[in-house]
Amino acid sequence: MKLTYYGQSCFSVECSGKNILFDPFISHNELAKHVNVSQLKPDFILVSHGHADHIADCVEIAKQSGATVIGPFEVVNWLNEQGVEKYHPMNHGGRRAFDFGTVKVTNAVHSSQMPDGSYGGNPVGFIVAAEKTFYYSGDTALTMDMQLVPRWGQLDFAVLPIGDNFTMGYEDAILAAEMIRCRHIMGCHYDTFGYIKIDHDQVKKAFAEAGLSLHLPAIGETIDL
Ligand code: NI
Ligand code: MN
Repeated sequence: MKLTYYGQSCFSVECSGKNILFDPFISHNELAKHVNVSQLKPDFILVSHGHADHIADCVEIAKQSGATVIGPFEVVNWLNEQGVEKYHPMNHGGRRAFDFGTVKVTNAVHSSQMPDGSYGGNPVGFIVAAEKTFYYSGDTALTMDMQLVPRWGQLDFAVLPIGDNFTMGYEDAILAAEMIRCRHIMGCHYDTFGYIKIDHDQVKKAFAEAGLSLHLPAIGETIDL
């Protein structure tokens, strides 16, 4: 399965013939200036919570592509108020079948507020089961809830935050990989701001020592997972 990284927690996957974009935050990301947002034409956009570093480009991309936005109830209602016409609300524990496969909404230990200060509901993660099965935790602390993930899907890969400060750091992400029983991890939510800059060599070494493969694609790079 092809995955393209767009910086922070934004990435897209080509999944059963559909393009799915996660947590679009590109045009306001200094590290992603070379990505042309107007060229992105996803079929679906999955949004984990209301913070700007996960949603800033969502309205524009949804409008230009006609994508269906899937996310927490409060988040997609807010997006609808901003003019997004195709959306599907979900909430913790729910599973739903879409054209590309199923989406299961998982717990995330974090907070959520829309960019204009309105209520953003509770933050979530997703397990997507399509031609491959993967888990995107969203912004979250390490939580025992992650032990449930393998009961819901045998993962081919997972996308986990490693930047610390606002989410789990890389040491907790290694413990999360154990809980979710997944050896292929793509790191996200790092380097974008001063608070979350990481030492790449140190992080890569720690993952290697734990017997895990860590993918840190360049922004704009496409990898096969
Ligand atoms: Ni956040
Ligand atoms: Mn964030």
